[in-house]
Amino acid sequence: MASLLALVAISASIGQTYAQSSLTVNVASTLQQIDGFGVSQAFGRAAEFRDMLSGDPQKQGLDYLFNTTTGAGLTIIRNRIGSGTTSSDSILPKSPGGPSAAANYSFDEDDRGQVWFSQQAMKYGVKTIYADAWSAPGFMKTNNNENNGGYLCGTPGHSCSSGDWRKAYADFLVQYVKFYSERGIPITQLGFLNEPDYVTSYSSMQSGANEAASFIPILHDTLEANGLMGWNSQRSITQGLVSAGMEKYLGYITSHMYTGDPNSIISTKLKTWQTEAADLQSRWCATWYGGGGQCEGFTWAQKIHNGLANANLSAYIYWQGVEVNQFQASSYLVASDGKTLTPSGRLWAFAMWSRFVRPGAYRVSTSGSVSSTGITAFKNTDGSVVVVFLNSGGSQQNVKVSFKDFTPAAAQAFVTDNTRSVASVESKLADGAVTVSVPSRGMLTVKLTAAS
Ligand SMILES: *[C@@H]1O[C@H](CO)[C@@H](O)[C@H](O)[C@H]1NC(C)=O
Ligand SMILES: *[C@@H]1O[C@H](CO)[C@@H](O)[C@H](O)[C@H]1NC(C)=O
Ligand SMILES: *[C@@H]1O[C@H](CO)[C@@H](O)[C@H](O)[C@H]1NC(C)=O
Repeated sequence: MASLLALVAISASIGQTYAQSSLTVNVASTLQQIDGFGVSQAFGRAAEFRDMLSGDPQKQGLDYLFNTTTGAGLTIIRNRIGSGTTSSDSILPKSPGGPSAAANYSFDEDDRGQVWFSQQAMKYGVKTIYADAWSAPGFMKTNNNENNGGYLCGTPGHSCSSGDWRKAYADFLVQYVKFYSERGIPITQLGFLNEPDYVTSYSSMQSGANEAASFIPILHDTLEANGLMGWNSQRSITQGLVSAGMEKYLGYITSHMYTGDPNSIISTKLKTWQTEAADLQSRWCATWYGGGGQCEGFTWAQKIHNGLANANLSAYIYWQGVEVNQFQASSYLVASDGKTLTPSGRLWAFAMWSRFVRPGAYRVSTSGSVSSTGITAFKNTDGSVVVVFLNSGGSQQNVKVSFKDFTPAAAQAFVTDNTRSVASVESKLADGAVTVSVPSRGMLTVKLTAAS
């Protein structure tokens, strides 16, 4: 009986034996620098997060987004610079009468909850606060409305009887940054355009390369005159702008995934950010993997992987973070009914990078390949090395990872799949190499530290 049992055990373990692949991480190679991963709570979602959740659930929501032990460890927030006609949606709701008249700016201290949200994120160490305008105030545009597109008055081909509002718009953006700065919230990135090729029924402004090229130098000079040029001023632009020689004025190039996922490189020396992506189609789902649906975590892990590995992205920002009683879409990462919170597989997809790959890290190259498995590797500013595996195949992959120009002294591995969310798992470290098992349709992240 004993030998029969032993036989069964042996055949079971043979059944569990997988081929082992080898991979080398070239730790001294440097590809793009990583700024981070993030979300927005624009259009009042920050105020709802604060007001519809209190006490423990509110803290839990913040932990899901920003905590590096229990959440995704996100490091970027994207705020909206309001362009509306009320003092809760703009720092300049009414036209001063003309572009050179004194503007009566005012700040309601709330910005529909974004002041609170920024302060909360900062408590978790978030340092990258990206303020983005969807539109200029309506009175500065050809259509005299913050909604439905229209162009900034004074840009080429768009003159208005009210005058040239380009400098006034630059002043408006700079004043927004100052209001935050005076309240101890440093805005590190500024965007003056959101989706310049879309006309929407909500705040939107059109711009081609020529329009943007005629505004960027004015914004640049206004920022400089206000002592704000030391930081990264981010503006959305198009390929046309790069050829128009605007690169010298710009810190970043941003894009949204709605017209197509970032899967290939935009040719520029600037950092590239994917600043808004989301599943706007499916109902809310928390699933990790269920066949490849748009709301699933694994699907988003593939998008983030492609962005980092194939499109040279330095940042990946989902649309929204926490929403309360909004189950109709998967456009946000954590759902709540006001009392409990449900993290999605998409949140954990972000966590597999964001918790471990911290701002300032560089992506590094790898040699070797693992069947059906995407690999991204990084070196953090503290010297630690992180390797992230994404296995889209039907069987587990065992990988032995060696390192060039780095000697690991300790390894910690975490997996996410249909039964686990960033769960600690075993990894074997021997002779300067670490061996890990990447689950089928799952992810494994291994973080290695050198001897101190
Ligand atoms: C300036 O704006 C504030 C706040 O919106 C308002 O109370 C005040 O009347 C305005 N002043 C002028 C001169 O328009
Ligand atoms: C993150 O979560 C851990 C574990 O619950 C907790 O000890 C820590 O205080 C949290 N961090 C912040 C900044 O709240
Ligand atoms: C990737 O982006 C960096 C800027 O972050 C740039 O310097 C580099 O040239 C880009 N690489 C490729 C292959 O385009």
